[in-house]
Amino acid sequence: MTNKTQLTLDGFLAKAAIDSSLAQLIAAIANASIAIAALTENGALDNTDGSNVYGKLDSQNVQGETQAKLDVVSNTIFIEKLTATGLVAGLLSEENALPITVKGNHGKDKYIVAFDPLDGSSNIDVNVSVGSIFSVFKTPHQNALVDADYLMAGSQQIAAGYAAYGPCTMLIISLGKGTHGFTLNRSSKHFLLTHANMQVPQDATEYAINTSNQRFWQPPVQRYVTECEAGAAGRRKKNFNMRWIGSMVADIHRILIRGGIYLYPKDSKNLSMPERLRLMYEANPMAMLVEQAGGLASTGKMRILDIKPEQVHLRVPVIIGAKNEVELLERYHL
Ligand code: AHM
Ligand code: MG
Repeated sequence: MTNKTQLTLDGFLAKAAIDSSLAQLIAAIANASIAIAALTENGALDNTDGSNVYGKLDSQNVQGETQAKLDVVSNTIFIEKLTATGLVAGLLSEENALPITVKGNHGKDKYIVAFDPLDGSSNIDVNVSVGSIFSVFKTPHQNALVDADYLMAGSQQIAAGYAAYGPCTMLIISLGKGTHGFTLNRSSKHFLLTHANMQVPQDATEYAINTSNQRFWQPPVQRYVTECEAGAAGRRKKNFNMRWIGSMVADIHRILIRGGIYLYPKDSKNLSMPERLRLMYEANPMAMLVEQAGGLASTGKMRILDIKPEQVHLRVPVIIGAKNEVELLERYHL
């Protein structure tokens, strides 16, 4: 199919059975991702003011992580583009300790957007794919938001997605009916539908986990990975391949394209932080995308989308991808 006949993101949103305000919001997120993609493409090249996006800052975010320059710039782009729509009542970012409640902007057609503006930021300086992840909720009531209003379960998401800044820029979204992938045409600056109805096969022969943490994992995950490593000679009776990019966006993207399973389980490496990934802007949106593509997402003990968070930056164990592999891991956790 040529680009001329491919559906644009705007065309797709216009055809989808969604409120026009939600279509506008998704279009604003797409524009934010186009702006961030342009910055990543510039790499270490200086802008006219002499700055570039590589390198770390002295600042730390709420998670105690040293921020990369591009973390901060991407966060500003997301906040500005979303606020400019006039459609958001509240924003929740990985980079901000507290939710940002937009003053005076509440009502029944408003949204809450949770986002990780730049996931995998340790990969920027080595020119490996990074991404942005987002999750959209309808406001729970018509009044001004209070902090507790942000604590919604992932099953209440009305849309979710990510942009992957790789060899090409892609936007993957779900509006609750399937998971669909769009590729950025760099010259026209339009996203075109290239991957309709993405599917995660039920079985897998590829897993993704940071094996440098192996000695800190709990027994169910130890057992699972040991059995994968044993390959055809072991209990699983088939060989597995392993991949770890270290950008959740890129690792999940591979699973949506060619299947597999991704794990960031609980571990005892750092007892003050037994889980790595954050529920509201990493696990929840990825869980919606993967479940809408026929996969599953679990902590090992419960469905990720059913978790009711007690705090906005809650971290959770993540086991996500091929249905049969996730179910096997859940049985190992019983
Ligand atoms: P970030 O949002 O600070 O970039 O952290 C999340 C990232 C995920 O993208 C990735 O899967 C994981 O952290 C990488 O962890 P590790 O450092 O163990 O490889
Ligand atoms: Mg992240």
